[in-house]
Amino acid sequence: MKLALFGFGHMARAAAAHAAGAGHQIGAVFTSRNTADVARMLPGHDAAIDFSAADAVPAHVDACAAAGVPLVEGTTGWQAREAAVRRVVDERGAALIYGANFSIGVNLFYQIVARSAALFHGLAGYDPFIEEAHHAAKRDAPSGTALALKDILLRGLGRSDVPLTSTRAGHIPGTHRVGFDSLGDQVLLTHTARSRETFAAGALLAARWLSKGGRRGMYAFADVLDDMLAMERKAV
Ligand SMILES: NC(=O)c1ccc[n+]([C@@H]2O[C@H](COP(=O)([O-])OP(=O)(O)OC[C@H]3O[C@@H](n4cnc5c(N)ncnc54)[C@H](OP(=O)(O)O)[C@@H]3O)[C@@H](O)[C@H]2O)c1
Repeated sequence: MKLALFGFGHMARAAAAHAAGAGHQIGAVFTSRNTADVARMLPGHDAAIDFSAADAVPAHVDACAAAGVPLVEGTTGWQAREAAVRRVVDERGAALIYGANFSIGVNLFYQIVARSAALFHGLAGYDPFIEEAHHAAKRDAPSGTALALKDILLRGLGRSDVPLTSTRAGHIPGTHRVGFDSLGDQVLLTHTARSRETFAAGALLAARWLSKGGRRGMYAFADVLDDMLAMERKAV
């Protein structure tokens, strides 16, 4: 694939390294310093991957819709603009996949937790809880992933609340634990991120899925992961 990148910080660099390792080409990189070049340089790419800043997302969605380039939207914090973004995608026949966490493992972890919640549903002796830990520089707490896990547990267990604790310390890349605790035992499910590579791999998978399938519309990564993995397995 010939890929364009929006942003060239920690995540976009990890995506570029992963793409190069997998034999893809980076055709253009756009940051706030060359936004004027986007309309001219973006057409002709197979997909674009955005790990930049929330304020820039609507402009990147517009640019990709105008250029007919599918967009993998990895930037977080733009949910308040989701309705406007969806309108652009629908009205202009664009293609966009978004996710606050492109780790394939985390997205499978969501499914494991949903299944666990179904199994523990109605068992009053087991109390659920969530713990998450990240490096000291991470600004948001709780993490978006922990909030997604909480939502899954609330729905699956039919509860009104689940305790959630956050730790910010050192260089922890990201750990999420979901537990079910009783008087006699505890079940503990853990996902541990080791590097940004895991997010880059998911973003690349999403780019391939969008561009190969010739798809149009707006998709959540978690909702279409099974389909992406099926396509990936078929290719092996
Ligand atoms: N979905 C996931 O799995 C996942 C995983 C990790 C992180 N993220 C998200 O990805 C985003 C980026 O994270 P990061 O750690 O890579 O941040 P970062 O290291 O701070 O990089 C941000 C990049 O965006 C660029 N940028 C800022 N404004 C821009 C604009 N108007 N147009 C184009 N580029 C612009 C910055 O360059 P200039 O300042 O030079 O323009 C910089 O290269 C964040 O929203 C983060 O939460 C998502």
